[in-house]
Amino acid sequence: MSETLENLLQETRTFPPPPEFASRANGTEDLYAKAEADHEGFWAEQARKYVSWSKDFTHTLDWDAPFAKWFADGELNACYNAVDRHVEAGNGDRVAIHWVGEPEGDTRDITYSDLHAAVQRAANALQDLGVRKGDTVAIYLPMIPEAAIAMLACARIGAPHSVVFGGFSAEALHSRIDDAGAKVVITSDGGYRRGSASPLKPAVDAALDHGDTSVEKVLVVKRTGQDTPWTEGRDVWWHEALEAADATHEAPAHEAEHPLFILYTSGTTGKPKGIFHTTGGYLTQSAYTNAVVHDVHPESDVYWCTADIGWVTGHSYIVYGPLTLGATQVMYEGTPDTPHQGRFWEIVEQKKVTILYTAPTAIRTFMKWGEDIPGKFDMSSLRLLGSVGEPINPEAWMWYRRVIGGDRCPIVDTWWQTETGAIMISPLPGVTETKPGSAQRAIPGIGAEVVDDNAQPVPNGHGGYLVLTKPWPAMLRGIWGDPERYKETYWSRFEGLYFAGDGAKKDNDGDIWLLGRVDDVMNVSGHRLSTTEIESALVSHPKVAEAAVVGATDETTGQAVVAFVILRSEAVAEADEAGEGADIVAELRGHVAKEIGPIAKPRSIMIVPELPKTRSGKIMRRLLRDVAENRQVGDVTTLADSSVMELIKTGLSKGT
Ligand code: WT7
Repeated sequence: MSETLENLLQETRTFPPPPEFASRANGTEDLYAKAEADHEGFWAEQARKYVSWSKDFTHTLDWDAPFAKWFADGELNACYNAVDRHVEAGNGDRVAIHWVGEPEGDTRDITYSDLHAAVQRAANALQDLGVRKGDTVAIYLPMIPEAAIAMLACARIGAPHSVVFGGFSAEALHSRIDDAGAKVVITSDGGYRRGSASPLKPAVDAALDHGDTSVEKVLVVKRTGQDTPWTEGRDVWWHEALEAADATHEAPAHEAEHPLFILYTSGTTGKPKGIFHTTGGYLTQSAYTNAVVHDVHPESDVYWCTADIGWVTGHSYIVYGPLTLGATQVMYEGTPDTPHQGRFWEIVEQKKVTILYTAPTAIRTFMKWGEDIPGKFDMSSLRLLGSVGEPINPEAWMWYRRVIGGDRCPIVDTWWQTETGAIMISPLPGVTETKPGSAQRAIPGIGAEVVDDNAQPVPNGHGGYLVLTKPWPAMLRGIWGDPERYKETYWSRFEGLYFAGDGAKKDNDGDIWLLGRVDDVMNVSGHRLSTTEIESALVSHPKVAEAAVVGATDETTGQAVVAFVILRSEAVAEADEAGEGADIVAELRGHVAKEIGPIAKPRSIMIVPELPKTRSGKIMRRLLRDVAENRQVGDVTTLADSSVMELIKTGLSKGT
């Protein structure tokens, strides 16, 4: 970490906002002072500016640390805010979503009026299936407009949704359905991925095969038209249900603190946490940040966030933020290299995208593919670039600025988390002089600090832990069904401060540079994975005795999963006999994909005879990381048996 730190602190380039951009930017300098002078008053103002309330709130914040209620006696409907009110305001003909399917030419433009018609029918259809306010609905869909429509329909009737990323396995889906007690699952026959139709519904069937489930109905969107297994009485086609449903649905008012959604994310233990968010505060901050950080001007911009709806970025910056603002956006179904490596830039050119929000891992991949690829397209429509998900290294930042942004677009590097619900630390593009690789400052209304082990702010030029110092509207309200774990995970390390789990550094100007996780959470391509979760998946395989997983630095994905596995003796004997070492590795990788999902598949699995442990039995991941990153192995004096590292290295060089 200290090496990274030194490198970063030598980065001295700065880029002032272009005057033309600054002159019409939503986010202005005075917001900082306003928020500083009156934290609650500031947020009350944003809540009334960006959100329409069915019943105005009289009180802004109840803070019974660490439990917050924002705008508690106010009432609103998130779907009304994202859809109906734009139609009422005469903007029904504005395109809400330029949807681009992966197969070329497969596109749909959906106006706010179209969305309005769809969410009303979908809300009625869900009610017809027995979904009531407070029931939870699981959504397991590819990147198709129905994903946004399904989320909004749930929000409309007050049924918290739990979106499960389509890349997660049946096992992972099962545990999420189960934990949330979902009554209905919304899925599709399949989706297009890397040029072919890949099925989705069979994973839902497998997840529900466990018997004993809360799920009564499965709503199936027809996307690919492929053959789909069907359970009579349980499965219902989405298009048939919507057609049969009433065309009109009045959006009811919900309490500001009514749960809007649950979203599972990896923590330091094996069990994913159901992070839950409520309505008023979340909607306020996602819309406010989309306005002041992404500088969305709904009447003129074409905005594109390339995240998947299965992650929080998709929730806040595809669905709730931009739609609440009434923006026009692009939504893309597929991968960046299908059918060619210029697909993103072709979309930018065709749809005249003005604001692009993507992840460092994607940027590094584009760098690898070469700048002549984006060079073939006209990207002069772009005026702002955003980055999210992991630290962006200065080289990638500079490449993004020069090659994609034509040296004219400001870049906002936005730090936040599933738990924070919306952006927390970022430049304001019309105000901040940006620095390549730094997220810089807490945005107006947010308090962030870097502290040492004793919760004391570190001086400029020093590193420590990132904490959040004040409650914020979009903060998680807890972990679904587990308030104790919420306190313990985020609020116990430093008295009165939210501990984010990230290391950070303040430079000589007091700007913040994020340095990655300080706990057992890995960040692979901007996706959060828990070392413990992958270890438990490995150990659940009958041939595995013990496993240790580390995140090793990877040029493209930021970190990569590297696993060290001790096989059971029977398995070793068998493998030796059949010369099957490689097969076991493939089998184990497949097993992790099945238990969690392909994103969690280790880049490499090393079969080892022992694992390095301290005398108290704790695995020393630091040493394994040294091996995984081909470094000289560090200090081994605290190992119970210091010869273990030799054993591991010899084993590895023999190629087992
Ligand atoms: C973790 C949260 C925020 C939506 C996507 C990820 C890392 C996120 C940045 C950034 C450095 C970042 C942190 C954080 N992270 N954005 N701009 N610079 N690190 O959401 O899955 O909840 O992961 O992602 O480590 O704790 P998430």
